[in-house]
Amino acid sequence: MKRFSKLLALLMAFVMIFALAACGGGKQEPTSSPQPTESTTGQKTDKKIVLGFAQVGAESEWRTANTESIQQAAKDFGIELKFVDAQQKQENQIQAIRSFISQGVDVIAFAPVVETGWDTVLREAKDAGIPVIIVDRQVKLENEDEDLYVAWMGSNFEQEGRDAAEWLISYMDKIGKGDGPVNIAELQGTVGSSAAVGRKKGFEEVIKNKPNYKIIKSQTADFTRAKGQEVMEAFLKADPNKEINVLLAHNDDMALGAIQAIEAAGRKPGEDIIIVSFDAVKGAFEAMIEGKLNCTVECNPLLGPQLMEAVVKLVNGEPIEKIIYTKEGVFPAEVAAQELPNRKY
Ligand code: AHR
Repeated sequence: MKRFSKLLALLMAFVMIFALAACGGGKQEPTSSPQPTESTTGQKTDKKIVLGFAQVGAESEWRTANTESIQQAAKDFGIELKFVDAQQKQENQIQAIRSFISQGVDVIAFAPVVETGWDTVLREAKDAGIPVIIVDRQVKLENEDEDLYVAWMGSNFEQEGRDAAEWLISYMDKIGKGDGPVNIAELQGTVGSSAAVGRKKGFEEVIKNKPNYKIIKSQTADFTRAKGQEVMEAFLKADPNKEINVLLAHNDDMALGAIQAIEAAGRKPGEDIIIVSFDAVKGAFEAMIEGKLNCTVECNPLLGPQLMEAVVKLVNGEPIEKIIYTKEGVFPAEVAAQELPNRKY
């Protein structure tokens, strides 16, 4: 009996040793290895890239298109995207960036709601060794310490403002109103945002040479349709002599809201009040086809592929440009019907 149990114990030990050897000496191998990510330059990284993106919010048609472009491009590039909607609040964006830092993402990107106040959090990202790409709007840093981020990509807002003013001057001449008083109501974007600051600056730079062009009313409507309508209503109430004959709206959404206010006040948008705005979203093309909007200056939101390309390059240790401008056009009402089917946002 004793002999038999000895033999059994020996047999069991043998079986265990064999089983352990088959399992690789007890070490657990991963069931699946991470998929390599292929960059547009053809390089491959072995681990899944993680990108943290802090978006401004969902304030406009433009922003929705921008968010969709980023989310789709992340999928296309096989990048894991941690996305935060900051609801147009800088403190929410700062909190999101801090959380990306503590999660140890590979790259951080964000569209800064306003220009200033980013130095501390950018320094924290830099100290953590996480590169930051700024998208869409720009930042203004103390001591102009541009090393706190690796790149910025987006629109040239000052140029957009100049384009709008140049289009307006030539249109007013064309309809024979170029020498009379041109009284402009301005709906500004979010106070302190580079989109609002740049568009205003570029526009004013051009009209300063035309003494009959005056901005007689100017207020922020925060880039939203609802506020565009509300502020325009107030402008019109305070304009009993119908002096306002031009509206400059810092985005299409505010222009579309203002159109409703103009109609409600019994005036004709696009005729009594010439309207020029920015973004070139589909809604603006539809309003132009109806004769209610006169021109939209393009601001391209489809930054996703460009951003992902830069992220992959950074992770692969390839150099990227510090400033990347997107190409944009100017669309007057005459081309709206022809262009609308080509619009992607
Ligand atoms: O920063 C880009 C601007 O932000 C767009 O013109 C506007 O529609 C958006 O909200």
